[in-house]
Amino acid sequence: MLISGGGSNLEAILRAQAAGELGRGQVGLVISNKPEAAGLERARRYNVPARVVDRKALGSENAFQAALLSALTDSKTDVVCLAGFLRKLAPVIIQKFRGRILNIHPALLPKYGGAGMYGHFVHEAVIAAGDAESGCTVHVVDEEFDRGPVLAQVRVPVLPGDNAETLAARVLEQEHRLYPQAITRFCEGLS
Ligand code: GRF
Repeated sequence: MLISGGGSNLEAILRAQAAGELGRGQVGLVISNKPEAAGLERARRYNVPARVVDRKALGSENAFQAALLSALTDSKTDVVCLAGFLRKLAPVIIQKFRGRILNIHPALLPKYGGAGMYGHFVHEAVIAAGDAESGCTVHVVDEEFDRGPVLAQVRVPVLPGDNAETLAARVLEQEHRLYPQAITRFCEGLS
């Protein structure tokens, strides 16, 4: 699992695993690009190895991506799950894990995806457009932000009086259900 921040999706996945609901899925390693990411502490609470691959400390994007690739390869990772991971993966990592990198996005892709579309920006755009519904999407990651094949989606209504925060909370609740289920199904299909 790759994270950059709060890690509430990570927590939902770890909770599913602890409850025996992640099927063949097993979170073997959590990596954050930021040392202060709260998700690291969540991983430790579930006794899952957690480490920092610090983009800032590594100095360059190349050094960062190389360290990330080594960490994934050394840990014999089969599937890479992004959960609030805010860096773009280098093509060499996408190639190495082609078709086995998943992400969750807080909107109904292909709407409201792409560079700069994350966090409150997504929900603000949905509200500004006057959409009657939003939701979340689990998809396979390719070289472009938020573009790869969709694996699963859940819809939620946009309610009168919603702001980015209230909509985000409604979507996040569904993310926590959708992502563990999608990972479980994905891992079942692996040979
Ligand atoms: C979620 O809204 C997810 O869809 C997006 O980043 C957010 C991560 O939240 N990719 P958390 O760190 O899992 O709490």
